[in-house]
Amino acid sequence: MTTNPRARTARRVASALGAAAIVAVLIGCATPREPILPVRSASPTPSPTPTVTPTPTPTPTPTPTFDRAQRSIDAADSLWVVANKRRPLQPETYAPADLVRVDVPYTNEPFLRSAAAEAAQQLFAAAEAEAGLRLQSLSTYRSYNTQVRVYNDIVANRGQDYANRRSAQPGHSEHQTGLSIDIGSIPASCAFDPCFGDTAHGRWLADNAWRFGFHLRYPEGGTPVTGYDYEPWHFRYVGLELAAELHETGIPTLEEFFGLPPAPDYGN
Ligand code: DAL
Ligand code: ZN
Repeated sequence: MTTNPRARTARRVASALGAAAIVAVLIGCATPREPILPVRSASPTPSPTPTVTPTPTPTPTPTPTFDRAQRSIDAADSLWVVANKRRPLQPETYAPADLVRVDVPYTNEPFLRSAAAEAAQQLFAAAEAEAGLRLQSLSTYRSYNTQVRVYNDIVANRGQDYANRRSAQPGHSEHQTGLSIDIGSIPASCAFDPCFGDTAHGRWLADNAWRFGFHLRYPEGGTPVTGYDYEPWHFRYVGLELAAELHETGIPTLEEFFGLPPAPDYGN
């Protein structure tokens, strides 16, 4: 038996998870954002021909842009990593080094990377304090091997097409990054079901999770881009800065935000 703490944590988590059946959802129609066009002013009063070359009107300084070069979307241990059907984690068996237990109610003992765990605790506390809504963690970190079991169980029960719309193949799941959490309500209602998005809990999360650095990763209508059905319970920690920018711009997916190609399938 190894004494490696990461391996111990992974085993503990894998055994705690059981054979979680991950159910799912639907689609809609992603609406691209309209660019905001500058408003033209009225025609200027004609002025005499200048005798000297006029100084060109300075180009307005653009609103400071979000520095997207700060973090990697490729490194598995980056808060901004984009994992999808076309972008496996590198390496595919990646396991985070800083998993901690999340101190929230749960159905499966929850572990996330430390920053995400702290943020999740704040999110759950705010839901209760601000809206009187009690939340529970349904699924958090899943190791490569746990994802093998989850995915294979769904394939065995419902077939591969169904499984691929609802569960990532091992090495492609955000749950393997330790940055994603599936959230349900207390008392349980619409767990792992698209109807969660219509509950008070689901609506509050959709409106407020960004304030704590979380992003609703599989939005309604996002299937052609994300490759997954609507999952109003799945929140991905991306940090405060990126979550705020995603919220403010209304750009629905990480793929669109970072200009990545859609990932509707594994491309095989
Ligand atoms: N349900 C999401 C897509 C996952 O398995 O990672
Ligand atoms: Zn999930």
